[in-house]
Amino acid sequence: MDPGHRKANLFLDQLVGAEICFSGAYTPKQMEKALDNAYSEWKERGRNPYIVPIGGSNGLGTLGYVDAYQELGEHDFDWIVVTAGSGGTYAGLALGVLLDQHNKQTKLLGFSPWLEKQEIEKRVHQCMEQASELLPAEQKETIVALSFDRHERLLLDDQYIGSGYGRITPEASEAIRLFAQKEAILLDQVYTGKAMAGMLDYIQKGIIQPKEKVLFWHTGGAPGLFALDQI
Ligand SMILES: Cc1ncc(COP(=O)(O)O)c(C=O)c1O
Repeated sequence: MDPGHRKANLFLDQLVGAEICFSGAYTPKQMEKALDNAYSEWKERGRNPYIVPIGGSNGLGTLGYVDAYQELGEHDFDWIVVTAGSGGTYAGLALGVLLDQHNKQTKLLGFSPWLEKQEIEKRVHQCMEQASELLPAEQKETIVALSFDRHERLLLDDQYIGSGYGRITPEASEAIRLFAQKEAILLDQVYTGKAMAGMLDYIQKGIIQPKEKVLFWHTGGAPGLFALDQI
């Protein structure tokens, strides 16, 4: 539904001249249906639409994060921590981790801000499969040989969603404040704030240990903060 304002990301969408339609969809199924409806509508109008799926999470979108992982170069992180919303970001990094010849230790930990574990795992695997199809043949074979869907270094956690997508949790608020005040790093309330809350909890519980090297993969989202009056 139309929120009645044009703040933050909506403001930016309007600024760049996008035509904005509000579908009222919330669940993945509803959103996919809304996209299909918009597609048909534009086709009927004689236009040539292209569906960018939710989060850009298809094979092609996932490949972007395979490249992003490779840009890291050789590293010795014990953990890479990231948010896993619709799955493409995590799936691309996961393929990067599995294809990495130099590093056999890094665990990739994804915190879901939206979907339950089973559903986000399913979406991640779909993205990995679709992207594998687009990889060069020998990389595809490596992935198949690793049977990625049962890989113990690929971890997903749905314990920090709180009451739902886009609904801030006290722990995420705390993480956002902490990083703004101590590090001048801006996290957002929907994705990175919840992932950081998860990471801090893993550290507190000793699952991530003091001697381990951790890369928190910041995926952006800070314009979302401008929709808020307080946190
Ligand atoms: C700031 C931010 N981080 C992460 C994500 C989630 O990425 P993915 O949908 O690829 O899991 C999104 C998705 O919109 C986002 O806006």
